[in-house]
Amino acid sequence: MKLHPLVKEVLITAEEIEQKCLELGQAVSNYYLNEYPVQENTILCLGLLKGCIPFMAKFISYLVGVECETEYMVVSSYFGGVKSNGVPQILLDLPIPVTNRDILLVEDIIDSGKTIKIIKDYLTLKGARSVKVVTLLDKKAGREVDLIADWYGFDAPHVFLVGFGLDYNERLRNLPYVAVADTEKLKKWHWGAKK
Ligand code: PRP
Repeated sequence: MKLHPLVKEVLITAEEIEQKCLELGQAVSNYYLNEYPVQENTILCLGLLKGCIPFMAKFISYLVGVECETEYMVVSSYFGGVKSNGVPQILLDLPIPVTNRDILLVEDIIDSGKTIKIIKDYLTLKGARSVKVVTLLDKKAGREVDLIADWYGFDAPHVFLVGFGLDYNERLRNLPYVAVADTEKLKKWHWGAKK
């Protein structure tokens, strides 16, 4: 496969992501099946846009035996570039009440932990019965708040990553793998349709 020119190194291949989504789907399903009686096991999978899309699409297809509804919120703290500005903001809220719901937050990556912490606290305040977190990538070295993912796919190194939902200025989310970006090239890259 031809790599994108802004990719320095593929960290996690499409095949590895697929296998991990299957494992996470099974682990999460087992948890909810054991935790709650069958008639109560409709969970609310809540994706945090926009990065969650590729992971969430695959992950939920591997949930077995549990019913799930899907909803999304738009939360962002990067607004382009390679560094967070540190203040995650809710740009689009949930359209439904969450009182007594069992919510599974679905993320592409946890870095400082601020985004998930804010949303977890927010949902708890709104009356959710439980809030769990599944993320494809866990960048533990970036953590600035006390936050542990309930399930994660891969440990991520403390470098700028792109692909499979992770972006640079809204681009590169579509790569089928997770990769280390070539940050030197990124700085002087001229984006165009026919690179
Ligand atoms: C990214 C990512 C997480 C968050 C993680 O979202 O999707 O939501 O940052 O960072 P944190 O743990 O330091 O809070 P971003 O704000 O870039 O928005 P996006 O999903 O639209 O890419």
